[in-house]
Amino acid sequence: MKQTMTMIDNRDGKSYEFEIKEGTRGPSVVDISSFYPQTGMFTYDNGYTSTASCTSEITFIDGNKGELRYRGIPIEELANKHSYLDVCHLLLTSKLPTKEESLAFDLELRHRSFLHEGLINMFNSFPTNAHPMAALSSATASLSAFFYNHLEMKDDYEYQEMARRIVAKMPTIAALAYRHSIGASFIQPDISKSFTENFLYMMRAYPHNRMHIDPEGERVIKPIEIQALDTIFTLHADHEQNASTSTVRGVASTGAHPYVAISAGISALWGRAHGGANESVIKQLEMIGSVDRVDEFIARAKDPNDDFRLMGFGHRVYKNFDPRAKILKSLQDQLKDELNLDSNLMQIANKIEQIALSDEYFIKRKLYPNIDFYSGVILTALKIPTSMFTPIFVIGRTVGWITQWIEYKKSKGAKIARPRQLYVGK
Ligand code: CMC
Repeated sequence: MKQTMTMIDNRDGKSYEFEIKEGTRGPSVVDISSFYPQTGMFTYDNGYTSTASCTSEITFIDGNKGELRYRGIPIEELANKHSYLDVCHLLLTSKLPTKEESLAFDLELRHRSFLHEGLINMFNSFPTNAHPMAALSSATASLSAFFYNHLEMKDDYEYQEMARRIVAKMPTIAALAYRHSIGASFIQPDISKSFTENFLYMMRAYPHNRMHIDPEGERVIKPIEIQALDTIFTLHADHEQNASTSTVRGVASTGAHPYVAISAGISALWGRAHGGANESVIKQLEMIGSVDRVDEFIARAKDPNDDFRLMGFGHRVYKNFDPRAKILKSLQDQLKDELNLDSNLMQIANKIEQIALSDEYFIKRKLYPNIDFYSGVILTALKIPTSMFTPIFVIGRTVGWITQWIEYKKSKGAKIARPRQLYVGK
């Protein structure tokens, strides 16, 4: 039987009926698409705190329980037992790959990781100290010029080809953006290396030294670094309708090229309320500088007249804990000795965490450490420069964005994303 909700306008007593829809999990949803035609009014929802913008089969979050699943599989299982590429396969095709499929997918992505010379040359027009996020977003938009055929895709094969291309190329673009930002020449991908190792290689290798040995004679890429970064990619792979994903869907709804939509997602991610938080966390820890000053900054975070916020705390959806943060915290503990984690930054981070978890201000507002609180410390231990923290988020999230883009394109009756407003001007 159809379930409904009746709303009464207390000004004139008129009542209106709306259908209640059930998903497979999560809260029920009131379908208000007929609200304006029925009532002549709009609904108002600042920041979309109560609005579902689409139906989706990709990712499920229960923010009260601290639960995250991709295609129904818990994030803990994926992070502990599967590679990032297997997670990409899961998101893109709805199933984890068999051993053979996994090898074929890996090989395909290695071969698709190269960039057109024209795109590489484009980087020369950026100032050498450009932030890698600026170059990443521009270069991704430019990819639409090189793969213009992706505007009209006929079948599943073409959708997959388009998606695999962008997933494979993103680490190469990110590494190039970084190398350009420090004035270093570009290193081509090495297809003998896995996805994650190749990214570290392209960032770190010296053009004259293909042996991956640093000036002190150490191996530049340790297996544990590859494993840690691979887990970080998995934890970032998708996160349902967050600000950047909604941006990607919004651009998709206008019929624009998929890579332009991904570029818009990258730009939306850059802000410090979203993916830019990982860079801000480390900058903030460095600014605090020592454990003795933590109280001063906690007091500032709590002061209603100070707009200072503790970076890496709070989340729109998670009101218990962020399951991704929990996995990273145990990864951080595991890496502590093996990677010589910066003890000063870690001590400051630990003290902030301890105070915040027991402080009334944070408890009342359900502000817990989020993924960015821990990823910054781990990425620092991996000797990743701070400016590359958000590009690493981009590399991990590209598969989620493009999967959401495809889902939008294949959904029946999809409409252009066009919110209304409450006009208060002259
Ligand atoms: N430090 C201090 N106070 C905070 C913080 C914080 N990090 N976050 C929220 N609050 C307070 C806020 O001042 C408000 O207090 P009051 O009710 O007294 O006005 C209350 O908590 C609710 O905040 P809000 O801004 O309405 O919450 P939101 O759901 O709109 O924002 C957020 C979520 C993530 C943007 C916010 O918590 C924040 O700015 N956090 C810091 C940035 C950060 O770590 N971002 C990464 C998010 S996780 C990665 C991702 O998925 O993008």
